[in-house]
Amino acid sequence: MKIFYNKTKLSQHVETLKAKGSSIGFVPTMGALHNGHLSLVEKGLSENDIAVVSIFVNPTQFDNQNDLDKYPRTLDADVSLLETISDKTIIVYAPTVKDIYSDNVVSQSFTFDGLEHEMEGAFRDGHFDGVGTIVKRLFEIVMPNKAYFGEKDFQQLQIIKKMVQLHDISVKVIGCPIYRAEDGLAMSSRNTRLTPEYREVAPFIYKTLKTAKTKFGTKSAKTVSEWVKKQFKKQPLLELEYFIIADVETLKPVKRKSTKKTYRAFIAAYAGDVRLIDNIALN
Ligand code: PAJ
Repeated sequence: MKIFYNKTKLSQHVETLKAKGSSIGFVPTMGALHNGHLSLVEKGLSENDIAVVSIFVNPTQFDNQNDLDKYPRTLDADVSLLETISDKTIIVYAPTVKDIYSDNVVSQSFTFDGLEHEMEGAFRDGHFDGVGTIVKRLFEIVMPNKAYFGEKDFQQLQIIKKMVQLHDISVKVIGCPIYRAEDGLAMSSRNTRLTPEYREVAPFIYKTLKTAKTKFGTKSAKTVSEWVKKQFKKQPLLELEYFIIADVETLKPVKRKSTKKTYRAFIAAYAGDVRLIDNIALN
């Protein structure tokens, strides 16, 4: 498998491939790859000749130094996992911080029509400036035809779609379904940090989302939210940060339900010091 650590070399290689007529599907990741990431790579390969997978723990999107320090970094294992899918059609780009940021590790400032102020944006200061900065830069380096993002980070997916539209970037952004463990827990690189005790209770998050979805059929968003908060109070190992039912277009919390709109329910919760997020389509 070809691995590039340098942006110029990667760009030159991609240019050669594109000149020969190959289409490029791009999957940006922060590594510690799991089956959720692999499902994006497989989708990318099914729609393109080549998949480029970037592996880069992006410092500017972390608002918490401890989370950044503890983020798992497992490049060798990641490459081995990708090799189980394909050796020839996957290219890895694993840059250093210097390759991406030179000596200026700061975010560009973005607006995404207000999407950046909701949920993760409200709870993680500067997070989406960091995400916008790195994804825009990676798009410039990788020059993909299509890019694949998981609905696991639904707000991120909507923000990247908005960025491409507002900045007139010629990449087609494709959303991919959430990949779950058998017990329902959404796969995440952070799951490896859960102790067995926390890992056992973590599927409670998805179980609660599923019941919230059923309740939303007949009850108001406010009633469902109160019910969810009550459930979390009964589960001392998980600390709910937010439960929000939001319009998928604006990501603003629903006030009055409309049959013309599409909604999703979102949860962020702490299992010890590990922050987990998940969401579910409601209608
Ligand atoms: P990371 O958390 O590594 O996720 C990389 C991509 O995999 C994202 O699009 C994410 O939504 C998707 N993904 C993660 N878990 C998934 C699951 N269980 N099912 C489906 N897709 C899943 O998201 C990031 O990295 C970063 O913010 C990044 C976009 C790379 C910018 O630094």
